Amino acid sequence: MNYQVLSRKWRPQFFREVVGQEHVVLTLQNAIKRGRVGHAYLFSGPRGVGKTTTARILAKALNCKKGPAPEPCNECGNCKSITEGRSMDVLEIDGASHRGVEEVRALRENVKFSPTSSLYKVYIIDEVHMLTNEAFNALLKTLEEPPEHVRFIFATTSPHKVPLTILSRCQRFDFHKIPLKLLVETLKNVSQRENIKIAEGAFLRIARISDGSLRDAESILDQLVSYVEGEIQEKDVDYLMGKVGREHLSEFILYLEKGEIGKCWSKVEELSQEGKPLEGFLDDCGEFLKDVLFLKIGIGDSETRNLLQGEIYREIRNIREERLIELMENLVELRERVRRSDTPLLTLEAGLARLSRKEAGAVKVKKDKAEKAEKVEEQRPEAKPPSPQEDSWEQVVKEVKKLGNLLYAVLKGSKVREMKEDKIVIAMPCNAAYFNTIPQKDKLSAWIKGKLGKEPEFIFREEKSKKEKKAKYDKIVEEAMRLFNAKVVRKENNG
Ligand SMILES: Nc1ncnc2c1ncn2[C@@H]1O[C@H](COP(=O)(O)OP(=O)(O)O)[C@@H](O)[C@H]1O
Ligand SMILES: [Mg+2]
Ligand SMILES: [Zn+2]
Repeated sequence: MNYQVLSRKWRPQFFREVVGQEHVVLTLQNAIKRGRVGHAYLFSGPRGVGKTTTARILAKALNCKKGPAPEPCNECGNCKSITEGRSMDVLEIDGASHRGVEEVRALRENVKFSPTSSLYKVYIIDEVHMLTNEAFNALLKTLEEPPEHVRFIFATTSPHKVPLTILSRCQRFDFHKIPLKLLVETLKNVSQRENIKIAEGAFLRIARISDGSLRDAESILDQLVSYVEGEIQEKDVDYLMGKVGREHLSEFILYLEKGEIGKCWSKVEELSQEGKPLEGFLDDCGEFLKDVLFLKIGIGDSETRNLLQGEIYREIRNIREERLIELMENLVELRERVRRSDTPLLTLEAGLARLSRKEAGAVKVKKDKAEKAEKVEEQRPEAKPPSPQEDSWEQVVKEVKKLGNLLYAVLKGSKVREMKEDKIVIAMPCNAAYFNTIPQKDKLSAWIKGKLGKEPEFIFREEKSKKEKKAKYDKIVEEAMRLFNAKVVRKENNG
C-alpha cells in the first residue's frame, strides 16, 4: 500500500471525530436535523484546525444517500466519491490559485446545472480571501440569488480580507486553535493506532510547538517517525524543530540565576551561531519558567510534572517563586526589545547582563534606572546618558548628538559587532584612526563605562558598506580587464 501522511490518513470522516470544534459541529448537525442548512457558510480560523475537514464532512452529510443526516454514512457511493475527491457534485476550489474573474464566471455557469447524483451541488472554496475584487463581485451575484440546489462553503485564515458584502451573506463559524490537552490526546491516539514508539514528554513538546494546529502536530509526528530510530524522545523533537532543548534552557536559567553572565553570553552566542532565532529562544525560556512556576505553586498538569522530574531540574525547582515571576516578566519585556532592536544580539546580551544582577531585581530595575539617571543629570545636565544595556545602539547614537555633532556624524553609520564583558567592537563606516582623534570620543567611553559598571575596551573597526565594497571591487575588475585585455564571461557571487 502507498504511504499516506498521517494527517491525511487520520482526517476525520465523521463530525464526531472532529476535535475541539464542538461549537461548530453541533450547530451544523442541528441545522441538518431541522432542515435549515444555510446557502453559504464561512469557516474562518487558523491553519490546520479542521476547516477543510469539516467542509467535506458537511458536504457528505448533505449528499449521503441516507441523508441529509447529522452524520454521513461514509459507505454509500456518494460518501465514498466525496471522500476520494471525485464527486461531480462537490467541487473544491483553491481560492489562492483560482483567483480571477474567469474562474468565478465558469463557476457561475456551472452553478446553474442540477446535481448529477445527489441532492446538492456543494462548492468548497478554500482560502477565499485570495479572490480578486472582480471575482468577488461575480461571486456576489450568485450569492444574491443562489439556486435552491447549491451550497457554498468558504474557508479562510483571513476573514478580515473577505469583503463585507460577501460576509453578510454567509453564516460564519470561527474555528479555534486546538487546546494543548486535546492536541496531546489526539497525538497519543494516532501513535497508538500507528504503533509509534514515543516517550511521554515528546507529545507535549510537539503539541507546544504546533501552537494549536493539529495538522502541524501530525506532520511533526510524521517527520519524527521517518527520522528517529527507536523510541522518539523529547530531545528529538527539539532537534528536528530547531528548538532549544529543556536541558539547555535549564542550564541557561541557572547561569542567569547565579550571575554567571559570561556563560549566559556564550550560550546565547552559540545559539545565535547555530541560526536559532533569539526571540524564539526567549519564548522557550519564558515557557519553561512558566512550567517550573506552575509546578511550584501546584497547578502544573501531570504532563508538565513528568517533564520536570529529572535530576537536572532539582536546582531550578529551588528558585524562589518571586524570582521566577521576575525572570519571566523581564524575559517577556526583553523579547519585545530584542524584536524591535537593530542589534538584537547586543540588546539581548545587555538585557541578560542586567537580569543576571540579582540584587537589581525586576521591581528595582526601573527605580534603580531612574535614580541613576537623576544622579548623572545633576553632574552633566546637557546630556542625559542612555544605558547601553537597554537602548539599542541607534538610540545611544541619537543621544550622543548632545555630546557633539562631529561625534554624532561619525557614529551615525556605526554598528555594534560584538559585545563582551571586557570588549565592545564597533564597526564604523569611516577610518577608525580618524575616529580616535575626535575630542569628544573620551566622553563617550566614560559615559558607557559609567553605565556598564565595568571598563570594557572599545575597539573601533573600519567597515565599508556593501556599496563601497562593490565600487572597489568593480574598479579592480575594470583594471584587470584592461591589463589582460579580457572580458567578463561569468560572475560568481562570492560576497
Ligand atoms: N479539529 C480537528 N479534528 C481532528 N483532526 C484535525 C482537526 N483539525 C485538523 N485536523 C487534522 O489536520 C488535517 C488538516 O486539517 P484541515 O481540515 O485541512 O485544516 P484547515 O482546513 O483548518 O487548515 C486533517 O486531515 C486532520 O488530520
Ligand atoms: Mg484547509
Ligand atoms: Zn453516505
